[in-house]
Amino acid sequence: MQEHEFATRLVAWQRLHGRHDLPWQVSDPYRVWLSEIMLQQTQVSAVRAYYARFLARFPSLPDLAAAPVEEVLTLWSGLGYYSRARNLHRAACMVMDRFEGRFPAVREQIEQLPGVGRSTAAAVAVFAFSRREAILDGNVKRVLTRVFGIEGFPGERAVEQRLWSLAERLLPQEHEAMPAYTQGLMDLGATVCTRGRPACTVCPMVDACHAAQHGRTADLPTPRPR
Ligand code: ADE
Repeated sequence: MQEHEFATRLVAWQRLHGRHDLPWQVSDPYRVWLSEIMLQQTQVSAVRAYYARFLARFPSLPDLAAAPVEEVLTLWSGLGYYSRARNLHRAACMVMDRFEGRFPAVREQIEQLPGVGRSTAAAVAVFAFSRREAILDGNVKRVLTRVFGIEGFPGERAVEQRLWSLAERLLPQEHEAMPAYTQGLMDLGATVCTRGRPACTVCPMVDACHAAQHGRTADLPTPRPR
């Protein structure tokens, strides 16, 4: 499979078999950003209720920035990793002060907000602004190491760099395809190319997948050396 075919297949698969009913599939950058922060360490099923409750109390970024941080922490209680809630509040205040309340649309600017790393910034830039940016979280690392047979622990700097550069080469050329492509990558990792028993028979990449073709889905991604 040539690299450009990966995006074509993924976008077609996402339209037919991907998730289209997630509450954060909206274009409001505040709502997208909030969902990506909640989803950093928490499963979709657990996030749904917290997300709805949070937005009912803070429907917009100015509402969040104006609230006392204690109230943000109260709404967060149960989700864990409370630094996420503190950073969320700090970031909302930063958007008000530095960007006049308008959420930044450029990945490098989004990445400067507290609690936002490169992949989270890219996801917000893609879903809210259709930017051409690559994501690389744990699920995406699993998909890419398997399909392209990338060896080595992905937590290692050199391996991670290879994965970032591959993730960038795989992007579709057209901006309009970016949200479906990125959602497709997340959906494939979460529903088909899973850690335990991947559902290779329904995978759009199976005939081109290094791990599936060589019986190596259990070996890739390479585990942390010990
Ligand atoms: N995990 C991280 N971001 C996500 C998203 N936008 N949808 C589903 N799962 C995710």
